[in-house]
Amino acid sequence: MWSMIIKMSVETPVNDFISKYEKSGFARFHMPGHKGRILHGLENKDITEIKGADYLYEADGIIDKSEELTAGLFGAGKTLYSTEGSSLSIKTMLGIIKSCRKDRENRMLVAAPRNVHKAFIDGCCLLDIDVAWVYPKQSSAQICSSSVTAEDIRRTIENCDRIPDAVYITSPDYLGNMADIKGISRVCKKYGIPFLVDNAQGAYLKFLDRSLHPLDLGADMCVDSAHKTLPVYTGGGYLHISESAPQQWICSAKEIMSLFASTSPSYLIMGSLDKCCGELQGGLPEKIRSCAFRVRKSADVIASFGWDVFNNEPLKLTIFSEKSGYSGDELAELLRKYKIECEYSDPSCVVLMCSPYNDEEDFQRLESAFGEIPILSSKDICNIEDIPEAKVKMPIREAYFSCHKRMPAEQAVGRICTRAAVSCQPSIPVVVPGEEITVEIMKILKRYSIFYVDVL
Ligand SMILES: Cc1ncc(COP(=O)(O)O)c(C=O)c1O
Repeated sequence: MWSMIIKMSVETPVNDFISKYEKSGFARFHMPGHKGRILHGLENKDITEIKGADYLYEADGIIDKSEELTAGLFGAGKTLYSTEGSSLSIKTMLGIIKSCRKDRENRMLVAAPRNVHKAFIDGCCLLDIDVAWVYPKQSSAQICSSSVTAEDIRRTIENCDRIPDAVYITSPDYLGNMADIKGISRVCKKYGIPFLVDNAQGAYLKFLDRSLHPLDLGADMCVDSAHKTLPVYTGGGYLHISESAPQQWICSAKEIMSLFASTSPSYLIMGSLDKCCGELQGGLPEKIRSCAFRVRKSADVIASFGWDVFNNEPLKLTIFSEKSGYSGDELAELLRKYKIECEYSDPSCVVLMCSPYNDEEDFQRLESAFGEIPILSSKDICNIEDIPEAKVKMPIREAYFSCHKRMPAEQAVGRICTRAAVSCQPSIPVVVPGEEITVEIMKILKRYSIFYVDVL
């Protein structure tokens, strides 16, 4: 009986503190300036680091407790909350490797497939890291996706003139491809290389019937944007460090995160991470499993109308629209007529992200829309063959901080890029600082509507 009560009780230490403070009647002679008076809606819960509220980057109270509960749910040795998304956690992850590496003679080198998020490039720029790009044998015509295999990683490591300080991959990628994390982890272990995963899109993967979370498949560290797939305010994320990782990583993690972060972390975001932790202790995992089942059903229904549906990642539906006579952007526009807003569209596809907070009506609306939109004859989209190998001319940081000017991409062929050229979504660089802009790159820039670039 007692064990049942204990099992059912949910701990949310950050929210408990905030609720208590809300009710305490204290006059707020501290930040923020709204003093808890309602203007936008949540001011009463938006506090700062007052007595008892702990400090995110020196946590030993309620935040530490909440992070510990979350670490327990994910099976991590340590989980850090981020109030600045995976973007902050990615830089922190790279910073941890940089500060704990033993090799002080060579520049830091990370092996990574090309479909990295811009935050990775920013981290390389800030920390002066070189990248050994991994070009999968089965190359991709999409900047956001990569079909990287364990063999591709092994080949890249073998071809490097020194053993990389880390292997870094993005999985799931923006289109919902999941990499062979187990296989890649085995390769990394063989060479003694830390294995880092950008799991921004996959926080929920832990809670499926069989966990597909990177920590369970052999990653040494990973980042999750909790806000992308779990009920967390925008900006809430995790940095997970595995139980088997060196203690030194855990000891340095908070300090390094604070190097890149604001000194005023949002309690609204921390409160939502804490609340989500409570939900995950309760019924949310079951809801995630049911949702994965419901998404599969929608995938089957939409495919039965003749659409090309990809549902490799359980809560994501990617519709490749070319064969049905539409560009992805045109299809996204048609979906808006049915009051459906997608996560992402580009010339070839539409990406739909689902969560347990989509209700049955949402799924039915989606299915009806695809049932009603007529399938036309195949359309020729301005497709690119493959993502070409980069011509690296100088380190990322050196190029970034060089004198530069902005010019039309079409006139920049042969010049060296100084800023990552990314389209707003999916924020994956077509060209990285220090690389030459070639004719092929210029075509890809055009395809993603990037018309200006910064060059040396
Ligand atoms: C693969 C990937 N990594 C990192 C990020 C950055 O995450 P955040 O927006 O939480 O900072 C994103 C955001 O879309 C992403 O898709």
